[in-house]
Amino acid sequence: MILWFLTGNKGKLSEASALFSEYGIEVKQLEASITEPQSDDIEEVAKAKMAQALDYLPDKNDLLLVEDAGLFIDSLNGFPGVFSAYALQTIGSEGILRLMGHLQSEDPIQDSHLRKAEFQAVAVLHIAGETLVGRGICPGRIAHKPSEGEGFGFDPIFIPSDLDALGEALGPGELGDVSTHGLPFGAIDSVQKHLFSHRARALSSLMVMMNERRENLK
Ligand code: IMP
Repeated sequence: MILWFLTGNKGKLSEASALFSEYGIEVKQLEASITEPQSDDIEEVAKAKMAQALDYLPDKNDLLLVEDAGLFIDSLNGFPGVFSAYALQTIGSEGILRLMGHLQSEDPIQDSHLRKAEFQAVAVLHIAGETLVGRGICPGRIAHKPSEGEGFGFDPIFIPSDLDALGEALGPGELGDVSTHGLPFGAIDSVQKHLFSHRARALSSLMVMMNERRENLK
C-alpha cells in the first residue's frame, strides 16, 4: 500500500515513514503546488490543503496524508500557533527566545509554568473516499537557549513534559517515568522523540481508526 505525504519537510517524512512502515505501508513524498490557506485553526488548514492535493494523487486508490502542526506558547497567547512556519522563517527560534527573555524564574516549577507551550498536530488521511482526522498534542516548555544536535524547526528550543507509565503527558515541572531530563527535542534522537511527539500521537490515532475499519470489513 502506498501513502503519499504532502510535505516538503524531510524530518516529517522520515518520522511518518518510520511509523507507517510498521504497518507495511510505504510512505512517499507528494510534491504539489498548493496555496497556503489562511485560517487560525490547524485542522481547517490541513483539510484545505487536502482538498487541493487530491488532484495530484497518482492513483485514486493510494492513500493521501496531510499534516499540519504548530507551536503554541501560553505566555504569548498561543503565538506562533498557525503562524509557526512564518515565525520560524522570520524571527526563528532565537527570536522566540528573545520574546520570552523576561519570562524566567529561579524556581524550576514556576519557570516551567512561565515558559509553558505545546505542539499541536492534525493529520488528515484520505483513504477509500473517506477522510479520517487524527489529533496529537505534546505539552512542554520553551528552553532558555537552543540545543545543538538533530531535529528540525523548533526542536532545539522545545522541551517535552515527562510522561507517566501509561505514556500520558504530565503537568509542567512534574517528574514522570519517561523523561528527556530537560533536553529539548533537538538534543534527543528520533526514536525518543517519537514517544512524546504530537505528530506521532496524531498519526497513531489515525492508525487506530484505520485498524478499526479493517476489522469492520472482516
Ligand atoms: P507545518 O506548517 O505543519 O509544517 O509546521 C509549522 C512549523 O512548525 C514549521 O516551521 C515546522 O518546522 C514547525 N514544526 C512542526 N512540527 C515540528 C516538530 O515536531 N518539531 C519542531 N518544529 C516543528
